[in-house]
Amino acid sequence: MRKVRIEKLTKNMVLAKPIMHKGQVLLREGCQRIDKYKERLEEYGIMQVYIEDEISKDIEENKVISEELQNKCKEDIKEVIENITQDKVVDMAKLKAGIGSIIDRVLTNNNALVNLFSLKVVDEYIFQHSVNVAVISIMIGKELNYKKKRLIKLGLGAILHDVGKLVIPEEILKKPSSLTDEEYKIIKTHPGEGYKQFEGRFDISPVARIPILHHHEKVDGSGYPEGLKGKEIHEFGRVVAIAEVFDALTSDRYYRKAWSVKKAVDLIKEEAGKEFDEKIVEKFLSFISVYPNGEIVKLNDGSQAIIVEQTKDAYRPKVRIFKGEDGKELNNFKEVDLSLENSLEIV
Ligand SMILES: [Fe+2]
Repeated sequence: MRKVRIEKLTKNMVLAKPIMHKGQVLLREGCQRIDKYKERLEEYGIMQVYIEDEISKDIEENKVISEELQNKCKEDIKEVIENITQDKVVDMAKLKAGIGSIIDRVLTNNNALVNLFSLKVVDEYIFQHSVNVAVISIMIGKELNYKKKRLIKLGLGAILHDVGKLVIPEEILKKPSSLTDEEYKIIKTHPGEGYKQFEGRFDISPVARIPILHHHEKVDGSGYPEGLKGKEIHEFGRVVAIAEVFDALTSDRYYRKAWSVKKAVDLIKEEAGKEFDEKIVEKFLSFISVYPNGEIVKLNDGSQAIIVEQTKDAYRPKVRIFKGEDGKELNNFKEVDLSLENSLEIV
């Protein structure tokens, strides 16, 4: 299995996972000739899909949580965010239960390196993003040796971090071009607005609300809303800031295409000690698979390969070469473990 951008769909690709949109199945797993639906999928804001083809046979995703759990949490957070902004009753217990299930999966995860990439439908971005930020934050919290109780607070704050976005006008959130100063000023109100929504509630601990307020603060003081520096930013805020940026960069947005995991990791590494807490970046880098299973890469000899499996070195996974140095398709694919083969590397 591998993911492909819809513009690259060809006639011999079979759908490996059902395509969902707002809780409805648009196309079922096993569906053939999906290339015929390119335009329809684009209309729905579906930019990438999972497919099965010859080169991606038997390759499995190295994800932490299942698609089902991801979708369930997405529906829960959607309900909470929509209800709270309409002053309706909010079922925090349901949300906490979902966070508890994510934590159980994270704590029992046996893969050293995990794929943190999550596929999103453009107009359901905020809910899918919220869940993924919670998963990544909990992974980081585990590396920081948090106990379960603390992980629940962190996870809850992480899944709620962008709740203030719901009061930002849609035309600003969905603007395909860059924002004016005035519009950016409005965007910058979302941490404070979101924080206010949960003020005085007894069903959420004060510390769990902090990521809502602090997730755009940067350790060098260049963030917002308050321009806090270093440890003035709560540790939960410093954790969620990294998770948030990683997930935002690797997602398709109205104004740009999704970045590769490698490109997003490079930026976060570059900003360690500047925008982001250096120690927390180190924890984040300890479990991320820089080249997730199923990704297509080029090797230094000109050949093309697909990532098959992770090894102990995040930069040197096991690959399956399907195009030779001359760019010609190989009849017999060749599998190479890059952690054992020093002459080859991903470029
Ligand atoms: Fe935000």
